[in-house]
Amino acid sequence: MSTLETRQDSTVIRTILSTIKELDQLNDIDMILDRILLEARRLANADAGSIFLRQGNELVFNQVQNDTLFGSDGNRAAQYSQLRIPINSNSIVGYVAESNSHLAIDNAYNLPPELPCTFNSSFDIEFNYQTVSIFAMPLHGFNQEIVGVMQLINATNKDGQKTPFSEESKTYLQLFSSHAAMAIDRGVMNREIVLRMVRMSRLHDPKETGAHVQRVGAYSAELYREWAKRHSVPADELKSMFDMIRLAAMLHDVGKVGIADIILKKPGRLTSQEYSTMKRHTLLGARLFESTTSELDSLSKEIALHHHERWDGKGYPGEVDLFSGDRIGGLSGTDIPLASRITALADVYDALSSSRSYKEAWTEDLVFKEIEKCSSSQFDPELVDIFFSIKNVLRAIGDKYSNEA
Ligand code: C2E
Ligand code: SIN
Ligand code: SIN
Ligand code: FE
Ligand code: FE
Repeated sequence: MSTLETRQDSTVIRTILSTIKELDQLNDIDMILDRILLEARRLANADAGSIFLRQGNELVFNQVQNDTLFGSDGNRAAQYSQLRIPINSNSIVGYVAESNSHLAIDNAYNLPPELPCTFNSSFDIEFNYQTVSIFAMPLHGFNQEIVGVMQLINATNKDGQKTPFSEESKTYLQLFSSHAAMAIDRGVMNREIVLRMVRMSRLHDPKETGAHVQRVGAYSAELYREWAKRHSVPADELKSMFDMIRLAAMLHDVGKVGIADIILKKPGRLTSQEYSTMKRHTLLGARLFESTTSELDSLSKEIALHHHERWDGKGYPGEVDLFSGDRIGGLSGTDIPLASRITALADVYDALSSSRSYKEAWTEDLVFKEIEKCSSSQFDPELVDIFFSIKNVLRAIGDKYSNEA
C-alpha cells in the first residue's frame, strides 16, 4: 500500500473512480462490501476495518479485514460472525449510525470524555490486537438513508507506525463512500430479489426457508474460493466468480415453482413416478434463465440444470434438450460444470443437515461420514477434500443462517 503523502490528488481521484467502475461489475452485497472496505483501507492506509449493515434498529456484522491478524486472505470463518449491535450511543458504530455523522478517534483506550459511547475491547482481547486510531462513518444508500457503518482501524504511516487518521484521508473516504452508495443499494437489492424469487418458488414447502438457500449460496462460494486458491485462479477471476456463485447457487431449486404441491409437500417417500416428476425441477429452473445473456444468468442456468449430476455419471438430467426434455447423454466427472459440482455438494450437505417434509435432520457426525462415503461416486473427490479442509468456515455459515433469513 502506498501512503497518501506520496500520492497526488488526481491519482487518488482516479483510483476512486476506477474502483467505482469495478463495483459496477459486482452483484452480491458481500463481495461489494469486501471491495469497498479494501479500497477504503487503502485510501487511509488502515491496517484493519469492518462493515456493518443496518437491519431495523440493529447493525449486523458483514465484513472484517485485518492485515496484521488475517493477512490479505482474511479469516473466512470470522466473515460469518453473528455479531449484532443496537443502534444507540453505547457503542462507537451504534453512535455513528444514531448520530448519522462520522467519528474520528485518535486513541481507542482514551476516548474524549464528551463522547457518550465506549470502546468495546473484546475483539482486541480475543485476537490479541491493539486498536489505536479509529475512523467510523455512516454508509448511505442512494436516497441518503443509512444502510450501514464502516469502521477503519489503525491508520499507518510510512514507517509502519499507527497514527490518527489524517484530514486528507477523511475527505477521500467520504468522497469514496458517497460514490459507493449505489453499489451498496444494488447489492442489497440483488440479495433481496433472489430471496423473493426463492420464496415464490417455495410457497408450497413450509420446511424450506430463505435460510437454506442463504447457506447453500455461502457454502458454494466458500468451496469455490478454496478450489480457486488451489488452482491458482487469478484474484480478479476468483472475486468475480465468488460474487456470482453466491447468488446463482441460491437459485438452484427455483424450478420447484413448477412442481405440484402434492409432490413437494409429501411427508413420505416419493413413488418412482413422483420422483421422475420432481427431477424436472432442474429443467424447469434452467428454462427460466434460457433467453438471457448476462454471465450471472448463464451461471444460474448451469447450476439449476446440473446440480443433481453425480461424479460417476448416475445423476440427472445429463445432457438434455431443454424444451423436449430428451436426454442426449450422461454427464460425469469434470464434464459437469465446476459450479454445478460445487452446488451439488453444498446442497446435499445442507439437505442432510436439515429436516425436510420427508426426513429428520442428521447429526454432523453422520453427515460427514455420508459425504466421505460418497466421494468419487456422488461427489467430486477434490471438492470433498476441500469441504473437509474448510469445515470451520462451513460451520460458521450454518450458525449464521440457522433460521429464517
Ligand atoms: P432435498 O431434500 O433437498 O435433497 C437434495 C439432494 O440431497 C437429493 O437429491 C439427494 O441427492 C441428496 N440426498 C438426500 N438424501 C441423501 C442421502 O441419504 N444420502 C446422500 N448421499 N444424498 C442424499 P434428489 O434425490 O434428486 O432429490 C431432489 C429433491 O426431491 C429433494 O431435495 C426433495 O425435495 C425431493 N425428494 C427426494 N426424495 C424424496 C422423498 O422420498 N420424499 C419427498 N417428499 N421428497 C423427496
Ligand atoms: C473450470 O476451470 O471452470 C473447470 C475446471 C474443472 O471442471 O475442473
Ligand atoms: C433443496 O435442497 O432445496 C431441494 C433439493 C434439491 O432438489 O436440490
Ligand atoms: Fe434440486
Ligand atoms: Fe436445494
